[in-house]
Amino acid sequence: MRAHLTTQAADGRHVTLRPLKPEDAPRVQEACSDPETVAWLGSDVINEHYSLDHAHAFIERALTRVAAGGFMSWAIADAATDELLGHISLIGRGGDLADTAALGYWAHPAVRGTRATTAAAVAVVDEALTPAAEGGSGLRRLTLRVAVGNVGSQRVAEAAGFVLTGRTRQSDALIDGTFTDELTYDLLATDPR
Ligand SMILES: CC(C)(COP(=O)(O)OP(=O)(O)OC[C@H]1O[C@@H](n2cnc3c(N)ncnc32)[C@H](O)[C@@H]1OP(=O)(O)O)[C@@H](O)C(=O)NCCC(=O)NCCS
Repeated sequence: MRAHLTTQAADGRHVTLRPLKPEDAPRVQEACSDPETVAWLGSDVINEHYSLDHAHAFIERALTRVAAGGFMSWAIADAATDELLGHISLIGRGGDLADTAALGYWAHPAVRGTRATTAAAVAVVDEALTPAAEGGSGLRRLTLRVAVGNVGSQRVAEAAGFVLTGRTRQSDALIDGTFTDELTYDLLATDPR
């Protein structure tokens, strides 16, 4: 899978998808300690105490997992300044990125609503599902799960072409100890995009 992709957000901003690097750590820290990120992706690590050390560990682990295969991670960055706007990843089913993968993403709070995440999701979908003979990675299927209250993420999923397939009940553990339903999406390489 290509480590560098380029795209353009709806506001005209040129966006690069590239490997994370240590210089991204302060922006990762800001994004992962942000209340909305914590609300939807909160855990024993992603919470209001998320530190610069956590961010460096996240970056190092992402690079290690990419090198090992079965996982792909891109920093979503402003093409002009290289500033990190967000992160997007694919986790391959069964430990490799050959057939089916789960998409995940988050945006830095300062760029939300600019459609940079949507542009990144469209670019990753294209890269993943375009047949190998046409220069893509030739995956067959992508999946995504989104908490029912996470409207921004649902918009990104739908703009990237994902198809709503169902709902799992009380399947997502939130940071406050409660559980919420998740919407399930998938996208086949054969679906219209
Ligand atoms: C979900 C998230 C990645 C969306 O990022 P974003 O940068 O706002 O996405 P975009 O700018 O591409 O916006 C996509 C659309 O959703 C809308 N949107 C974004 N946040 C919204 C919200 N909280 N409520 C309603 N609509 C929202 C945008 O206005 C845009 O709509 P449009 O296409 O009609 O203009 C971001 O809010 C985030 O990082 N959330 C915390 C982490 C998270 O939830 N990750 C996903 C887990 S499944």
